[in-house]
Amino acid sequence: MEYELGDNRIVLEAYIPRLGSIRVRLASWRDREKLVRFFENLSETSISLRFLSYTKDFRSIVDRMISSSESALGIIAEYRDRIVGVGELYRLGRDKCEAAITVSEDYRGLCIGTTLLYTLLLIAHSRGVKEIVGYIHASNTPMFSILDRLGGRRTLSYSDVVAGYLLVDSAIEKAREILVSKGVKLSVKLPR
Ligand SMILES: CC(C)(COP(=O)(O)OP(=O)(O)OC[C@H]1O[C@@H](n2cnc3c(N)ncnc32)[C@H](O)[C@@H]1OP(=O)(O)O)[C@@H](O)C(=O)NCCC(=O)NCCS
Repeated sequence: MEYELGDNRIVLEAYIPRLGSIRVRLASWRDREKLVRFFENLSETSISLRFLSYTKDFRSIVDRMISSSESALGIIAEYRDRIVGVGELYRLGRDKCEAAITVSEDYRGLCIGTTLLYTLLLIAHSRGVKEIVGYIHASNTPMFSILDRLGGRRTLSYSDVVAGYLLVDSAIEKAREILVSKGVKLSVKLPR
């Protein structure tokens, strides 16, 4: 199954048990203020886990995500027009990217994080990326749980941050299997 999610009009829809349908799509400049608010509304702990330090300057981060450049992109998961999760992909080389996912506190444990990562993996695959890396705080049990289930490997980077690596092709298959086993139904809505 090949998707080209680089097209803003193409949307991945996921039916999430215990919640309902969410839409995952590429973030654009129209989402700028909502994205900044999404990050501002996170707890200090969540901000520190995502950025590995405490920051409040989200505008430059969001601007990079929505810059439509080859080196960075952002995706958003929306539930009833509300941003409930964000995924980021940054190119590190010809076939390597750094990825990060963040889900709003009220919507965790529902598979939205895995769905976002699955979508990032599909985008990475469509752009010829073979491996993605994420920098994970040693205390981040939910993120390690996701990494391990997708067959990732870890190396200790520095102090309490761990680099987690995923091979794109095999992780796509594993993510799809996990989502299906948890009752998540995935579909791609094509533009009319
Ligand atoms: C990491 C994060 C994105 C996960 O989002 P999510 O929507 O809850 O993810 P999912 O529901 O797809 O999966 C969560 C997994 O963590 C597990 N989990 C959740 N809370 C946990 C806890 N306190 N202890 C152990 N496992 C936990 C869930 O059981 C699930 O694992 P499973 O599939 O093996 O059951 C979310 O916790 C988050 O936004 N954290 C703050 C930002 C961050 O750390 N980003 C990652 C930067 S690399």
